[in-house]
Amino acid sequence: MDRIRIVGGAPLNGTIPISGAKNATLPLMIASLLTDQTLILDNVPQLADVALLKRILGNHGVDCMVQGKRAGQNGTAGQTIELSARDIVDTTAPYELVSKMRASFWVIGPLLARLGEARVSLPGGCAIGTRPVDLFIAALEALGAEIDIDGGYVTASARKGLTGGLISFPKVTVGATHVALMAAALARGETVIENAAREPEVVDLATCLNKMGARIAGAGTSTIRIDGVESLTGARHSVMSDRIETGTYAFAAAMTGGEVLLEGATSDTLDKPLAVLAEIGAEVSATNEGIRIRRNGSGLQPIDVSTEPFPGFPTDLQAQLMALVCRADGASHIRETIFENRFMHVQELARLGADIHLDGQVATVTGVERLTGAEVMATDLRASVSLVIAGLAAEGETVINRVYHLDRGFERIEQKLGGCGATIERLSA
Ligand code: EPZ
Repeated sequence: MDRIRIVGGAPLNGTIPISGAKNATLPLMIASLLTDQTLILDNVPQLADVALLKRILGNHGVDCMVQGKRAGQNGTAGQTIELSARDIVDTTAPYELVSKMRASFWVIGPLLARLGEARVSLPGGCAIGTRPVDLFIAALEALGAEIDIDGGYVTASARKGLTGGLISFPKVTVGATHVALMAAALARGETVIENAAREPEVVDLATCLNKMGARIAGAGTSTIRIDGVESLTGARHSVMSDRIETGTYAFAAAMTGGEVLLEGATSDTLDKPLAVLAEIGAEVSATNEGIRIRRNGSGLQPIDVSTEPFPGFPTDLQAQLMALVCRADGASHIRETIFENRFMHVQELARLGADIHLDGQVATVTGVERLTGAEVMATDLRASVSLVIAGLAAEGETVINRVYHLDRGFERIEQKLGGCGATIERLSA
């Protein structure tokens, strides 16, 4: 199993190209199941989760081609992939595949909408909470589906097709909003989604679905209206840039000091994290090329932050924020409100000398003068990158085990940070 070795202490200076967003790519790839024509996606990141989803879609009969080149061949640019679900050969998504990545459960929406049936294993994914699927089921039932859960599988059927309806989510859910959008796009009549997730990835999916001929209005607000159509066509869409990757490197630059341009990043998806970063003590400026982060010498200020659905502070940046304030001058409070078990990085940060006290969903982080390198373990995707951030500022050597978590969501992290002066390398087993 690969490990990452970091020798901390160097400031980051230079340019980091921001990749296409993992969490937009996954639903966009799944949307290919909605049409028998070809969906072309540009700016697709090369990530383990994308490769796994290609396999999962392949199992349903989706033909997935990386245009003109093979994986790993195209330098720093994103891939272009062509997905063609002309013949769907299987409407079952098996346990062996779905248990590896929660987002693969989302195939239930398009399979049901297009073929009137789907049988999908209950999902797996990062161990950050119980993550039930009740809201997906309620949404599909609101569109007329019959649902049966048996033997670890959810079977959804709508022999005569789905019909539009009112989906009112009791809490904000990104995944169930994606699924509701995809299912309602092919349902008969109008669907209204209330309390929809407003995340930019939902907007990216809706934009692509509209290019495919869907009639969706209001994505990015809490109320989305979908006028169902009979069929969807192929389209070409470029995946939005990754706001979580952007935020991660912004926090890393604030941690080490120096000046970094996050090339291709867009600040409008990151208002809250960038405001938090400015409050902590980094200079943030949005330019035509991307976002520039600078911190020279000044100390880091402690902060109180709660994670919230968009446009609030994202749970996917909570661990990275925690790493940063480990070095602040005073005590910070970080409340996690989205997932109940998303503090697994706490004990690993403590190995590097962090002073963190957990009380339920609130972490009190008392800044320390120095962190020191140690051997640590990656436990989930964002937790692992928080250890990278801490390692970049720790004295001496940090070795991170189980980096396959990191490879799920961060493209070429060693090259991107190494290119800005960090001493970071992958130790292959
Ligand atoms: C998406 O997960 C992201 N994943 C997550 O990123 C992200 O942390 C999360 O949204 C919140 O922003 C992808 O986009 C692939 P939710 P998702 O449904 O859709 C509860 C990362 O690191 N809930 O918005 O699974 C759920 O348990 C990943 O890239 C139900 O109770 O999250 C949670 O408490 C990790 N019942 C809350 O809603 C349901 O049926 C929000 O989850 C569905 C969800």
